[in-house]
Amino acid sequence: MLRTRFTETFGIEHPIVQGGMMWVGRAELVAAVANAGGLGFITALTQPTPDDLRREIERTRELTDKPFGVNLTILPSINPPPYEEYARAIVDSGIKIVETAGSNPEPFLPTYREAGIKVVHKCTSVRHALKAQKIGVDAVSIDGFECAGHPGEDDVPGLVLIPAAARALTIPIIASGGIADARGLVAALALGADGVNMGTRFLCTEESSIDRKVKEQIVANSERDTKLIFRTMHNTARVADNEVSRKVVEIEKAGGKFEDVRELVSGARGRRVFEEGDLDAGIWSVGLCQGLIEDIPTCAELIGRMVGEAEELISARLAGFVASA
Ligand SMILES: Cc1cc2nc3c(=O)[nH]c(=O)nc-3n(C[C@H](O)[C@H](O)[C@H](O)COP(=O)(O)O)c2cc1C
Repeated sequence: MLRTRFTETFGIEHPIVQGGMMWVGRAELVAAVANAGGLGFITALTQPTPDDLRREIERTRELTDKPFGVNLTILPSINPPPYEEYARAIVDSGIKIVETAGSNPEPFLPTYREAGIKVVHKCTSVRHALKAQKIGVDAVSIDGFECAGHPGEDDVPGLVLIPAAARALTIPIIASGGIADARGLVAALALGADGVNMGTRFLCTEESSIDRKVKEQIVANSERDTKLIFRTMHNTARVADNEVSRKVVEIEKAGGKFEDVRELVSGARGRRVFEEGDLDAGIWSVGLCQGLIEDIPTCAELIGRMVGEAEELISARLAGFVASA
């Protein structure tokens, strides 16, 4: 058993989190993570309406009696979803852990607090983590440059970001980005984190709802097979290297604006990749750690293996480095 401030504060067996993932964070995956002793998050905006979210939470409860949470990601958008109504659905459903991401969660904190909800805020820099601590979140999840999705604009990888955050913060820290196995987990704990968050690794499990061809591509890909898009728009996203992401980078290099890539990067196209297994249909988020992924385990196999190997690493390999007197 690995006990940390995170496992204690959140009442979770293992210090392993499955963060919000658009089109992926659904009942089956979240329940599988929970049943294996980790903390899974349903992704609120994957559900078309707040009522669908209520039903997804119910569906998850039918599959597990362990704790799980909901991720509500707030990003700038031309037609913003009804965020307040999604937050209301979370509160009304009796959820006790929320992962916030994308922007400052302050406007939502009083609602969550009143309902006794613990908040994990996901961010990509020490300054944003400090701000989140100041406004009263219970923990921060910090994404290093390695991560899938939005790594921010500072380009600081976890090896520096996590100890820098640990030095500055007093609340529990969850290291995120680039972690796919026990080595990553033990390294994150050594760097000062209280747990790890994984996206790419959980994307490539049996219970993740995406088409098997995408999972097989993740196993085949190396750590070099990602692209950074939207760099020129200061809204960087790390996605799989494919025909579409290469084209987007090309258009950006030639001075193109968002309008010029809008159709290529549409959510509908990305969704087709995951649902139909058409790997070049659109852009899809994946992190550098795909290079470490060699199989498609169940969440129980994955979490069991990570915890077992982490204990072994700490008590045998690392302890073996300490010279006895
Ligand atoms: C397919 C996919 C979709 C994601 N969607 C979201 C999202 O909607 N909101 C969010 O906060 N993070 C999202 N993320 C980021 C993950 O929650 C996590 O922070 C990230 O994957 C960690 O990096 P890793 O992939 O190297 O483990 C997504 C990641 C992936 C792989």
